[in-house]
Amino acid sequence: MTTSKTIQIVLFLLTLVTSCNASANAATQPLAPAILIFGDSTVDTGNNNYHPKANFKADHIPYGVDISGKAASGRFSNGKLYSDIIASKLHIKELVPPFLQPNLSDAEIIAGVCFASAGSGYDDRTILTTHAIPLSYQPIMFKNYITRLNGVVGEKKAMEIINGAVVIVSAGSNDFILNYYDVPTRRLEYPRISDYQNYVLKRTSLRTCIERENKDALLYIQKLQKLLPAIEASLPRSKIVYSNVYDPMMDMIKNPTKYGFKETKRGCCGTGLLETSDLCNSRSKLCSNHSEYMFFDSIHPSLATYSYLADSTYSTIAKLLEA
Ligand SMILES: *[C@@H]1O[C@H](CO)[C@@H](O)[C@H](O)[C@H]1NC(C)=O
Ligand SMILES: *[C@@H]1O[C@H](CO)[C@@H](O)[C@H](O)[C@H]1NC(C)=O
Repeated sequence: MTTSKTIQIVLFLLTLVTSCNASANAATQPLAPAILIFGDSTVDTGNNNYHPKANFKADHIPYGVDISGKAASGRFSNGKLYSDIIASKLHIKELVPPFLQPNLSDAEIIAGVCFASAGSGYDDRTILTTHAIPLSYQPIMFKNYITRLNGVVGEKKAMEIINGAVVIVSAGSNDFILNYYDVPTRRLEYPRISDYQNYVLKRTSLRTCIERENKDALLYIQKLQKLLPAIEASLPRSKIVYSNVYDPMMDMIKNPTKYGFKETKRGCCGTGLLETSDLCNSRSKLCSNHSEYMFFDSIHPSLATYSYLADSTYSTIAKLLEA
């Protein structure tokens, strides 16, 4: 059960590449001017800490214990998230701050922020149970971000930054896990999973993930991947990278020793079977070596897992940006 919940997380990355960012090639030069992140707990770097109504928060230890000075920052893992790792490998920044953090410096704004919210989904009804910031509202936050960026660097430069930015979108699992399977409000309307998959795809034209039935997940992934070329064609000068996390995570489960994992079925926090958000807290017993666990809490990947996932996607993005 633990594993099935997260296996189906599907990420895809939308990379907007302009013709004017070709000169960044020295080893420590950023490969893109900024990174912008939309989605759910797989990429929320702390917005829910500043969103009082949200039910899912990682604003307490042991979340973040392996990021020096950043414990309880709101990240649902022991360390950096997938999106932080990509940002760092692109030499953009080490940690991507949440846009709702009240004291963001101008420098933080220029190099990009995160709009994601744990418990979010493409279907606004998913938010009824989680009170997260819906995917449909995150573009409004993005507009506020642009206004602030315009104020910092001027409109022309702001447009350059945004045109050259790497955009990560990671969401969809909650639509299926929290809304369709566990709290089946939408299931009444869409008794067949395939119809609901189509509904979610239509809402977002982005990507998502599925739960419990891996077969459902694979079908969804196929539908999503088919949709991406059309989205790319509708966004001139953009490149979309689909990041398959289903197969790598399945491989981790089947061949744990290849990754140094001793446990792939339970999370590191508490019993590892049900603790997440408030249930994973300072009273929970932690495993002794966090890197031996594929999951940190019962549903969220550990830093070790995110690092493996980020590696291959990073190579694909870097090739596109350097081309
Ligand atoms: C902004 O606030 C956060 C959270 O309260 C704090 O950790 C950080 O040091 C502050 N940053 C600045 C630049 O004041
Ligand atoms: C923790 O586990 C990782 C992955 O298996 C391993 O590389 C590392 O050496 C371990 N650390 C300790 C202190 O045992």
